[in-house]
Amino acid sequence: MRALVTGGAGFIGSTLVDRLLAEGHSVDVVDNLSTGSLANLAGARSSGGRGLSVHSLDIRSPELVDLMARRRPEVVFHLAAQADVRVSVAEPVFDADVNVVGTLNVLDGARAAGTGRVVFAASGGTLYGEPDPSDLPVRESLPHRPLSPYGVSKKAAVDYLVCYRELHSLEFVALALANVYGPRQDPHGEAGVVAIFAERLLRGQPVTVFGDGEQTRDFVYVDDVVDAFVRAATRGGGLVCNIGTGRETSVNELLAVLAAVAGVDVPPIHEPLRPGELLRSSLDPARAGIHLGWQPWTTLEDGAAAVLEFVRSRLDGAPA
Ligand SMILES: NC(=O)c1ccc[n+]([C@@H]2O[C@H](COP(=O)([O-])OP(=O)(O)OC[C@H]3O[C@@H](n4cnc5c(N)ncnc54)[C@H](O)[C@@H]3O)[C@@H](O)[C@H]2O)c1
Repeated sequence: MRALVTGGAGFIGSTLVDRLLAEGHSVDVVDNLSTGSLANLAGARSSGGRGLSVHSLDIRSPELVDLMARRRPEVVFHLAAQADVRVSVAEPVFDADVNVVGTLNVLDGARAAGTGRVVFAASGGTLYGEPDPSDLPVRESLPHRPLSPYGVSKKAAVDYLVCYRELHSLEFVALALANVYGPRQDPHGEAGVVAIFAERLLRGQPVTVFGDGEQTRDFVYVDDVVDAFVRAATRGGGLVCNIGTGRETSVNELLAVLAAVAGVDVPPIHEPLRPGELLRSSLDPARAGIHLGWQPWTTLEDGAAAVLEFVRSRLDGAPA
């Protein structure tokens, strides 16, 4: 398969690139390196270098359509995004420019290239707004009511995918991702609570827990998420599929698992709950099971161990 991965130098995108190259596919990466890094592609460049081309380009750039028309990818994995909820609140025009206008540019590139299918990284954590606890784990049939500009721009991208499927027969699967964690996640980012906790624990520093720590998230491991992307390259169509575990894990539980695996015990600092923070979240993955044959198989303990190993090796090479 000839694949093009937007956001391929990012946390999830680079893990997807590794998997595609390992399966013998050829991969074009488009990334403007705003939050991603070429370091994430170091392994891919050395081991699978022959099948990989990296294009340092903004998805909003008109050059993207020409590039895609030349490279003619059969499948486009669209992961490049402004992915920070707080940035979207502070700069909604910038957020929409990248996530809506940028996505349209990718879709026009796909049309120019004769691409058969787009697999899109949607956001399950924001798509359904603040669901009633009785609706957990959330199914795709729940109304889509995003409460942040980021959630709205991601939803708009899904609406355009539906529209382009009707208008231009461009097939798509939109994966509504839960809280993805794993090696390479940016510990300085907003959403990387697992990476942030892992780094602080390994430094012997206390972690900050907002509120009582009983708020829940659905933590899904990056390799499992990448598996869903690969499956969606050939299966399903015209669908939003939740990619989560269906399990709620509280922040306290997460911290306990990480501390136990790391073998450290540092009491957390508590700060008031941040305004607008979602209290409970989990996504029902049954539809992904039926249409993609997907299920999450990595336990939180195994995933936590992989993150701790990654952060430990990074800290060994970095000044404390
Ligand atoms: N990590 C999560 O928990 C999570 C949850 C739901 C959805 N998602 C979505 O998954 C995708 C990947 O997220 P991630 O966690 O790997 O984040 P990331 O920040 O590591 O990856 C995003 C990549 O897109 C690139 N990028 C940003 N703006 C660009 C632009 N204008 N042109 C070209 N490239 C650009 C960045 O440089 C980066 O490499 C995003 O679309 C995000 O919204 C992530």
